Amino acid sequence: MSADPMRLVPPAIPPGALAGGPQPTFTLDGARLRPFRADDADRVVEAFADERIQYFHSRQLDHTQAAAWIATNNEMWAAEQSVTWAIADSTDDRMLGRVSLHLQPAHGVAEVAYWMLPEGRGRSLVTSSVRLVVDWAHGVGFHRIELEHHPDNEPSRRVADACGFSFEGIRRRAHRLVDGDHDAWLWSHLAGEPLTRGD
Ligand SMILES: CC(C)(COP(=O)(O)OP(=O)(O)OC[C@H]1O[C@@H](n2cnc3c(N)ncnc32)[C@H](O)[C@@H]1OP(=O)(O)O)[C@@H](O)C(=O)NCCC(=O)NCCS
Repeated sequence: MSADPMRLVPPAIPPGALAGGPQPTFTLDGARLRPFRADDADRVVEAFADERIQYFHSRQLDHTQAAAWIATNNEMWAAEQSVTWAIADSTDDRMLGRVSLHLQPAHGVAEVAYWMLPEGRGRSLVTSSVRLVVDWAHGVGFHRIELEHHPDNEPSRRVADACGFSFEGIRRRAHRLVDGDHDAWLWSHLAGEPLTRGD
């Protein structure tokens, strides 16, 4: 990876600055964030068989595809295109959910995305994970983190709100899902802003 010599503006984060080392890990109350491993594949299949995850993420995977999904995620970190963590239960390291950042290092912008298997929902693990990875991203030079969700996805809206994101507006018919094109609600979090609800 090298910087584009024709760009007039230097990259916010120079190529190679992120993935020169191993993917960071984090500890939160009841869980830890770690890279996905090959032995998470069965749980990934289970996740994408869940009705709501399948709907909002438009994917259904068999075991082979889940293994490829895991391998691709880890390659994307090496290429500094995205970074994906498993949210793993601290008692037995079982994968419960996922949080990712899709990276645009040249612009210092990233987008956060997540899902949680039904057994892990409602434990504030997603909210805590988003706070941790957004804080990490700001610390390594991403000044703006975006978050988008379906207008009817109230749990996702609550995650954005609880993490101090600001609602920016509606991207009309931006997401193609199995039942058609849907609006997306766009939120953002800027470096220096609190990671808690702003009321
Ligand atoms: C969105 C999702 C990741 C949230 O996971 P979670 O484990 O419930 O997250 P948290 O425990 O951190 O809580 C999120 C908030 O949603 C609320 N919530 C959870 N389930 C809810 C429901 N069915 N209706 C309304 N609010 C709900 C929680 O009370 C909490 O709000 P609060 O902080 O104001 O109390 C999870 O529901 C999920 O995986 N959904 C399917 C996939 C998906 O929507 N992915 C995101 C696409 S943008």
